[in-house]
Amino acid sequence: MSEIIAIEAMEILDSRGNPTIETEVLLESGVTGKAAIPSGKSTGKYEAVELRDNDPKRFGGKGVLKAVENVNKVIAEKIVGMESENQVSIDREMIELDGTDNKSKLGANAILSVSLAIAVATAEETGIPLYKYLGGINAITLPVPQFNVLNGGEHADSGLNIQEFLLLPVGAPNFKEALRYGSEIYHVLSKILKEDGYSISIGDEGGFAPRVGSGENALKYLIKAIQEAGYIPGKDVFIGFDAAASAFFKDGTYVYEGKRMASIEMINYYEHLVDEFPIISIEDGLAEEDWEGWVKLTERLGNRIQLIGDDIYVTNPKLLSRGIKESASNAVLIKLNQIGTLTETMDTIRLANRAYFNSVVSHRSGETTDVFISHLVVGMNIGQIKSGAPCRAERVEKYNELMRIEDDLGTAAKYAGREIFERFLQ
Ligand code: PGA
Ligand code: ZN
Repeated sequence: MSEIIAIEAMEILDSRGNPTIETEVLLESGVTGKAAIPSGKSTGKYEAVELRDNDPKRFGGKGVLKAVENVNKVIAEKIVGMESENQVSIDREMIELDGTDNKSKLGANAILSVSLAIAVATAEETGIPLYKYLGGINAITLPVPQFNVLNGGEHADSGLNIQEFLLLPVGAPNFKEALRYGSEIYHVLSKILKEDGYSISIGDEGGFAPRVGSGENALKYLIKAIQEAGYIPGKDVFIGFDAAASAFFKDGTYVYEGKRMASIEMINYYEHLVDEFPIISIEDGLAEEDWEGWVKLTERLGNRIQLIGDDIYVTNPKLLSRGIKESASNAVLIKLNQIGTLTETMDTIRLANRAYFNSVVSHRSGETTDVFISHLVVGMNIGQIKSGAPCRAERVEKYNELMRIEDDLGTAAKYAGREIFERFLQ
């Protein structure tokens, strides 16, 4: 048991060079804990609010000094003096202090930075690794990574509508090997793209951003790279993608590769892709407003592949509850800063588990070197993580931390592998 005696935030930069918030918590025992908050670009409409200064004289309006001040003055005043192990009560206090539905008063960035820093400090004080503090003795599952190796949408200027083309080394024996598969395929992909005369410059999440013309072409490159690296597509490594379809949903239809498409046409197209390629997961195949479409998509493909809701749920237990009731998907993306506290994030994960929905813990396109999500994914036995390409320090650091955790667990470590996708693998 240790009292929180000081909380201090500051403005730092994220991987895109934009300001974000970092907070440090000091406990009575002298132990400290730090957390830095990432920032999304293709954000869901109903995400908790990322408070920015909107002062055009600083960082083009993107400064976070207001959020910093909210931590240092308003939140600190309330939270200093509380016992750091009372995470749920602390999070509830902050939610109440904010008083809005979407954390727009204090900022989800401000609130979350305190929420996570407290967990980090408390774990440090107990002397057990963060993942074990979060999950206890049953925290043993290393996740299947989803490597984003080709970037499109709002994360690159490749002209591809689909935002992320993902490699899932489901058949690897452990996490370390999964990371090796991903890295090897990534480098082969770079070589093949270069040979074909494409640019190998990279997008926000470390994936390449070549102008290969179509989603189908991008998928063909992935298959080729998997094979040339010596792996079997659909056995060692599967494919996934995040369409981030809210970004190309205009006036009730999808504007995809130059064509206007209704929801049902997008579903037909996805079914065709699933028939042609070893795809095991599609995220945000449809837009956040298109609930009816999501239900139809799940009816059509929900037995064959994982359908992840990101923008549609924004890690919010209320929205996920609706999705579960309506069978609008079979999986949910988990981003701490979409909801704004550790407690609520855990509520959403628990809800998903009970409904037999898969969860995938995710970074944001604007990241820092913070590795909280690596501990969260193991702590909660979630089984999947999305942290970009196996390239760029802010992406790789999450994967490196998972290797350290795997080492720390030793023989107790269990790679999620095929088990997490069992219902889709006949
Ligand atoms: P974002 O994108 O971090 O830019 O919001 C990630 C995603 O859509 O999954
Ligand atoms: Zn997404």
